Amino acid sequence: MSKENEKTLEVYEEKANLYLSNSMEHDRLDRMKAKRKREKLEKLIATNFSPLPKHAKVFEIGSGDGSNAKFIQDLGFEVTASDTAQAFIEATQHQGLKTIHFNALEDDFPEKYFGIFCWRVFVHFTKDDALKIMEKVYDTLEDNGIFIFNAINREIKSIDNEWVDFEGEYHMGAERYYNYFTKEDLDTIIQKTKFKIEDFHKDGGSNNNKWLLYVLRK
Ligand SMILES: C[S@@+](CC[C@H](N)C(=O)[O-])C[C@H]1O[C@@H](n2cnc3c(N)ncnc32)[C@H](O)[C@@H]1O
Repeated sequence: MSKENEKTLEVYEEKANLYLSNSMEHDRLDRMKAKRKREKLEKLIATNFSPLPKHAKVFEIGSGDGSNAKFIQDLGFEVTASDTAQAFIEATQHQGLKTIHFNALEDDFPEKYFGIFCWRVFVHFTKDDALKIMEKVYDTLEDNGIFIFNAINREIKSIDNEWVDFEGEYHMGAERYYNYFTKEDLDTIIQKTKFKIEDFHKDGGSNNNKWLLYVLRK
């Protein structure tokens, strides 16, 4: 686990409640935009997880407020949500989800899964962290299992990474590490594993290219 990720998790541990209220505030500022984003994400999840066996086990890394895990559970899957910050774990448990304390770079997955979901978490990973997580996820997936994740596209940034405390509604009162990946970075990392790329596209932001979005198959 990188020092960058470790320090960022300390910030989340201390400030997760602030993050939760700020992200609600963010969505309230433009409800239509938030709704469109939500619908797009839910379509992506449903399209890629629906072919999995009925009631298959699905794991979410870094669940935050738990809304994605809740959606996956409502599709009929047996979901384990996870995070490292206590306030996130509690928020997710309040939604009726099985939720565990889990550091994706340090802890062993408790079981095998047909699906693993990791949304807006690679933003806090170095390249070495990203390779490590990809290898761990590959090992814990059932054959033909699916891994969905996204990362911020380096194309829209002028730097490779930064410590940042965003202004406005994303303000946390402390800096978190953000790493920006190119498609080539991630393709190179994926090639080091045995994953097959099932789907890749760019999405979000004003030019529809803010996020690099991957669906990988074991
Ligand atoms: C920007 S938030 C996104 C939360 C949620 N996935 C979402 O999209 O709303 C980043 C999340 O990644 C989690 N995270 C970062 N590094 C992690 C690690 N090594 N293990 C588990 N969770 C991690 C943080 O605790 C936080 O919940």
